[in-house]
Amino acid sequence: MATEETLVLVKPDGVARGLTGAILARIEAKGYALVDIRLVEPDRETLAQHYAEHEGKPFYEPLLEFMLSGPSVAIRLAGNRVIEGFRSLAGTTDPTTAAPGTIRGDFGRDWGLKVQQNLVHGSDSVESAERELAIWFA
Ligand code: TYD
Ligand code: MG
Repeated sequence: MATEETLVLVKPDGVARGLTGAILARIEAKGYALVDIRLVEPDRETLAQHYAEHEGKPFYEPLLEFMLSGPSVAIRLAGNRVIEGFRSLAGTTDPTTAAPGTIRGDFGRDWGLKVQQNLVHGSDSVESAERELAIWFA
């Protein structure tokens, strides 16, 4: 058993569009355990820590602006291989090409240049999960 924890964020577009419940329903139906969940309104410094790996990339500033545009829901999620499993549920980064059946594929769409509006974040490794959970559930 590789029981893990991961950080999931329902991003501002997901909260604003009223999709938090639909996203949580998929997570729960898959059998993952909600360990902690909270509505968050992060400041720029918190987001800079969270997205440190992307600093300097062309999409970094629009990404932070988007993440500052409204509340998100932060979730500490547990389960067997949940890091990989949640990213599979979420689908690939670009909602236009994310597979149908995934959160991004079913609910996300291409909002012009705003690729960042892809509804959810999920940690991409054990190291990222530990680092990100410490930021959002300090
Ligand atoms: P990334 O960590 O590569 O994607 P993921 O969320 O699938 O792990 O990128 C972080 C976020 O940055 C991504 O969810 C959306 C945004 N982003 C863009 O806006 N444009 C891009 O070209 C990329 C790669 C990401
Ligand atoms: Mg990522």
